[in-house]
Amino acid sequence: MSSITITPIAGSLGAEVTGIDLSKPLDNESTAIIEDAFLEHLVLCFRDQHLDPTSLLEITEKMGGVGVTPYLGGLSTHPDVVPVIKEPNEKSALTFGSGWHTDFTFQAQPPSRTLLYAVDVPQVGGDTLYCNLYKAYDSLSPGMQKMLEGLTAIHSAVRSYGPKATLKDTQENMTIINDSQEPEAMEHPVIRTHPQTGKKALWINPVYTIRFKDMTEQESQPLLNYLNALATNPSNTCRVRWQKDSLTVWDNRCTQHCATSDYQGHRREMLRTTVAGDQPF
Ligand code: SIN
Repeated sequence: MSSITITPIAGSLGAEVTGIDLSKPLDNESTAIIEDAFLEHLVLCFRDQHLDPTSLLEITEKMGGVGVTPYLGGLSTHPDVVPVIKEPNEKSALTFGSGWHTDFTFQAQPPSRTLLYAVDVPQVGGDTLYCNLYKAYDSLSPGMQKMLEGLTAIHSAVRSYGPKATLKDTQENMTIINDSQEPEAMEHPVIRTHPQTGKKALWINPVYTIRFKDMTEQESQPLLNYLNALATNPSNTCRVRWQKDSLTVWDNRCTQHCATSDYQGHRREMLRTTVAGDQPF
């Protein structure tokens, strides 16, 4: 009998998982429990995991294969593992990933999941927030749902990693390489159907969604602002409070997330991998 316990951390999404050691191979029953919990809670935080870059990559492989990570430098020994580091002496308070976003939606096949493992965390602060994009879709009126289902969004890395992007200047201890030219824009449906649950999600985000197809940025921005505010309303979020050795895994097909920049003068070190994803539909 499995000893896994799954405890929700908020009303809208997110759960904490205990009674499991991810550094060891999982039996079929445990794998099924975890996979069901992912589909139900969208964000899972596994406490007290003793992982290194190799075991993190093994878990990533088992979840669907390692995704492609552009712009961010990985560990020299494990290029697919990105260290997300903030040192106490950095000039900027901004932490990496501090705007609401879904990972790499500028890719043709954005990552299905992201894994973030806490190596070193401040005593307080540096939490990560998540929001539920199924619930955001469900909260729209039938008229708005119908209109959005006919729309395509343009996603681009330009604001974070374009030639003029300044993110790299605020992250002194990460390797961030901007594009030398305007990054390629990608088209994705505004309403995305999750390939496993069949549920619909409002699949836009403030960082990478630039505009609606066939509309200008000026025309698109008011509606994008409204939808992003709806998605990130506090009642639609959860907060993961990190502890050393926590691994949080989230589903990028139905969530946004945001790191909090409230620990300047303290150290935070995380290891990050992504799971390869499918073309959104
Ligand atoms: C990320 O957005 O990938 C990082 C989030 C975090 O460090 O909390």
